[in-house]
Order: sequence, then structure tokens, then C-alpha cells
Amino acid sequence: MTTEAKPQYSPGLAGVIAGETAICWVDPNAGLMYRGYDIHEMGDKATFEEVAYLLLNGELPNGKQLNDFKQQIAAERALPKEVEQMMQLLPKDTHPMDVLRTGVSMLAPFDKDLNDHSHDANVRKAIRLIAKVMTLITDGFRISQGQKPLPEKPELSQAANFFYKLDGKVPEDWKTRMMDTIFNLYADHEFNASTFAARVTASTLADIYAAVTSACGTLKGPLHGGANEESMKMLEDIGTPDRAEAWLKKQLAAKAKIMGFGHRVYKEGDSRVPVMREIARDLGKRTGKENWVAICEKLEEVMDREKGLCANVDLYAAPVFWMMGFKPELNTPLFAASRVAGWCSHVVEQHDHNRLIRPRSLYVGPQLRKYPGPPK
Ligand code: ACO
Repeated sequence: MTTEAKPQYSPGLAGVIAGETAICWVDPNAGLMYRGYDIHEMGDKATFEEVAYLLLNGELPNGKQLNDFKQQIAAERALPKEVEQMMQLLPKDTHPMDVLRTGVSMLAPFDKDLNDHSHDANVRKAIRLIAKVMTLITDGFRISQGQKPLPEKPELSQAANFFYKLDGKVPEDWKTRMMDTIFNLYADHEFNASTFAARVTASTLADIYAAVTSACGTLKGPLHGGANEESMKMLEDIGTPDRAEAWLKKQLAAKAKIMGFGHRVYKEGDSRVPVMREIARDLGKRTGKENWVAICEKLEEVMDREKGLCANVDLYAAPVFWMMGFKPELNTPLFAASRVAGWCSHVVEQHDHNRLIRPRSLYVGPQLRKYPGPPK
């Protein structure tokens, strides 16, 4: 028995417009715009802080605004000692994304603005989250390796700080510039799964920490942010370019999902791939590891021929992070260290114009039947 006409249904919400945003536009024909600016025009020139400010506030900062914003982030990096103690208590093999998700959740009660969802309070909390997410990743990783967190260096940018807080070395300028570009590419992507999860959570008028906790949990999955860790395992398994074609054909014959390929929105290719590929090429020359790009390019060629599928940004992010010296389990946290700016901007926007996000489902279970009474 049904009381309503069969509604329209799109599996996986494919093609569904689930809300409005003035933050970001993913052009299916391979473009990416933040607040009206083409990220590919500014990605290798702007610092991550400039992009984060733009996402959060809607306009580019002037010199003073950018300096103030940088200082505000740097001043918010330290974690409450209780959160650091919590990280000491976690099993040493806890995945860094689980440390991050647990840490974001635990930060909530330490924020005096927690339950104030006004625009200004949300922006203050966003700045704290952008700062502290990075510390949770870097300090959490050191703790898992049996090392002590390093003292803060407030003069460092977010990009330089990520390197420094892991190994105590202030990176060369070229490395910081490269990381800024990568962070800029990852900073937002409209209603991707983790941002959507954040917005659903925020739409109940839950706080920004609850929303970012949801986002961290969602990012971890290999069909989303977790793909950049899985891609590295794949590339290591392939090993050399001459093995790539046979490896891929075997996987496709077994109907396996190939990490770093395909995208829900981009069908003509992910606009971030050419930039990430160039970074990988540059690092390949610098480190003498030119095989990684050669493997990726072979996979791209075969995947296009066999399935008509394009690479996504995570295919090249994997060897980029590897050549920068990061362990693969830090790949998805690196993504989070940047995307937190997007998540927070979307939570601010959601709270500023809130309506509960609550879709319907299409019932496919048994028809109405009579309850036979309790079991005898
Ligand atoms: N490997 C093998 N086959 C694939 C892949 C892939 N990576 N991606 C899509 N396909 C296949 C699908 O199985 C489907 O085949 P079918 O028609 O025979 O069933 C066909 O291509 C079309 O798939 P779509 O509907 O376009 O895929 P969807 O939009 O549902 O999924 C997703 C997109 C999840 C990204 C998918 O491409 C995938 O699993 N990719 C691998 C994981 C990955 O790299 N994720 C990172 C995404 S980007 C990011 O989060 C930064």
C-alpha cells in the first residue's frame, strides 16, 4: 500500500542540486572557482592563508587583513593539554585520520564560543579549527612515533608549519611554495561528500566542531579523501612503468575500483590534475624518482582507452606527498589540513542561511503486513 506517487530518485544523489553556495563552483568541464576567482590563476601565487581568508570572508584580504589573519591562525595553533594527553592514550597504530576526528571532537568543549552560531563567533571558531586541525595532525603523528610535539614557531605560515611541526626543520622556500599551491587546490570543492556531511550536521544547528567531526569521518573513506593513501599503495604495488598496463588490465578484469580515477562531477578530467602532475614532475626531477609520474601517465593512457575514465587529483597527490617525504597515512590528513578551510566556510554559510537538510528515501522494503503477535 502506498500513499504517495513514486518520487524522483537519483542514486548517490548524482546530479541533485542539494543547496546553494556562494563559496565555490566546480565546473564539470574542468574548472574550479573560489568566490568568483579561478583557482588556477591564483593557486601558485597566493598563500594558503589568502585562499582560506577568501573562502571564509568572501573577498580577498588586503595586506593588513592578511597579516592579521596569519597572526590569528598562528596564535591559535596550540592544543589544550588535555587533548594532547588524549592523543598519548590512543593506541600507537591509530590511523592519523582517526586521531584527527577524535581530536576535533574533543576540542569542542574547550571553545568558549561553542554554542554561539552567530556569523562572527563561527568565523572565530573557523580560525581556531584551521589552526588546530594542523596541530592535531602533526603532533598526533609525532606522538604515535613516540616523539614529543615540537614547540610552536608562530612566524611560520601554515604550509611551512606542516613540515616544521613534523620533523623540526623549517622547509626551503620552494617546498613551502609548493605546499601552498597544493593546499590551495584542496581547499574547497563545493558539495563534495565531506563538506556535504558537515553541512548536514550544521543544518541541525549543531556546532561547527560537530560538523567538522562529521567531515573528518567522511573524508577518511577511500572513495573520497582516503583515495590519496590508497593510490600510493597502488603505485608501490605496480613498482615500475612497464608493469602498469598489465597490472591495470588485471584489476579491471576483476572489476576493481582503481584509486585516483573517476569523479562524480568532472567527466572531462579533474581541473586540478595538470597542476598536480607538474608538481609531481618537478619533484621527480628534484628527487630522482621520475618513475612515479611515468607510472601514473601509463595508467592514465590505459584507463582512458579501456574505460574512458580520467584521473582525479589524488592520483598525482600520492607520489607528490611521497616525494615530499610524508608517510602515506599522512596523505588524507594533508588533504584535511587544507579542506578544513572549505568545511568551516560552508558551516558559516549554512548557519547564516539555515534550513534543515533532510531528504526523503525511496522505500523498497516489504509491503504492509500484519504483526503476528509476540513470539511464542
Ligand atoms: N575504477 C574503475 N571503475 C570506475 C572507477 C574507478 N576508479 N570510477 C568509476 N568507475 C566505473 C563505475 O564502476 C561505473 O561503471 P558501471 O557503469 O559499469 O557500473 C562507471 O565507471 C561510472 O561511474 P560513475 O557513476 O561516474 O562513478 P560515481 O560518480 O558513482 O563515483 C567515484 C565517483 C566514487 C569518485 C569513483 O569514480 C571512484 O570510486 N573512484 C575511485 C576512488 C577515488 O579516486 N576517489 C577520489 C575522488 S576525488 C576526491 O575525493 C578528491
